[in-house]
Amino acid sequence: MLELAVITHEETFNRMRDPLKDRGILARYIDVYGRGIPISKENPIEFQDIDVGFVYPSRIMEGGVIDAFLEVPWVNGLESVVLSRNKGRVLTILNKNGFDVPSTIMISNPIGEEELIDAYEKIENPMVIKPNSATRGLGIALVDDVDSFEGIVDYIRLVQDRAETGDRSFLIQEYIPDARDYRVMVIDGEYVGSVERKFIDSNLEGKKWKKNVHRDAIAVRAEMPEPIQKIAEDVASLLDIKYVGIDILVNKDRVVINETNARPTIDQEEKYLPFFYDKLAKLIEKISQGY
Ligand SMILES: Nc1ncnc2c1ncn2[C@@H]1O[C@H](COP(=O)(O)OP(=O)(O)OP(=O)(O)O)[C@@H](O)[C@H]1O
Ligand SMILES: [Mg+2]
Repeated sequence: MLELAVITHEETFNRMRDPLKDRGILARYIDVYGRGIPISKENPIEFQDIDVGFVYPSRIMEGGVIDAFLEVPWVNGLESVVLSRNKGRVLTILNKNGFDVPSTIMISNPIGEEELIDAYEKIENPMVIKPNSATRGLGIALVDDVDSFEGIVDYIRLVQDRAETGDRSFLIQEYIPDARDYRVMVIDGEYVGSVERKFIDSNLEGKKWKKNVHRDAIAVRAEMPEPIQKIAEDVASLLDIKYVGIDILVNKDRVVINETNARPTIDQEEKYLPFFYDKLAKLIEKISQGY
């Protein structure tokens, strides 16, 4: 049996284990964080006999060590994980290739006051301020006036002033109003299903705007019109991310790509197309053979 090291949310591991086992892949969960890993010539027991990894760890330092022990190919590797973490880079690539993305300015700190206000004035109010690196919804705010904008930027500066903070950039971005919020999954270039994030309490509609699962939103199975499936497949091919969740905001005028995730959680099987796990198992097999 093909042995798969799973380095992702435990919930995702629990969901994928049995369906993959039915398809000849033995998934083994590996804890990466909050532990000691002795550097030695011998692989620790739990790193032995692994053929392929899923997914390259989000923390690059720990990931580099695990990867050096395992010496296996990954569904998705370092390159895809680093790419999708950089929201500004993904938006730049998508924009250059004709996809609709929120109008965005990347701010690199330290920026002068004048230039900051220049940037502020280029994006319509209200605008979204968010970290450039994916953060699972943390630190994302909507502002509607220049004073609040500067106040938030002050806080970002305080945090980013620490030398240890590798990332000193953030994004200011057009707010896409009245949008449905979809997570569209594409495996090896093919659309395999999608969910819509909706507020758990429909009274929140119009009061809150961030639909983050595990906070105020739940993910329900969604039917995606074919043109949007095609857009998602094109995004996946362009970025060359083999297993990807693409976040799309859809309102009556636009289909806007908000971001991509190269370490997407897997929701319950029923929410996806019936061949979801066939496709995933096939991809894992292909990657293990050097695809
Ligand atoms: N420009 C925007 N216009 C409208 N809504 C937005 C915009 N940007 C973000 N949102 C809302 O805020 C949520 C979180 O933003 P985003 O997806 O950019 O952050 P994240 O840190 O990647 O969160 P996660 O990883 O949990 O998806 C989105 O799912 C969406 O509901
Ligand atoms: Mg998101």
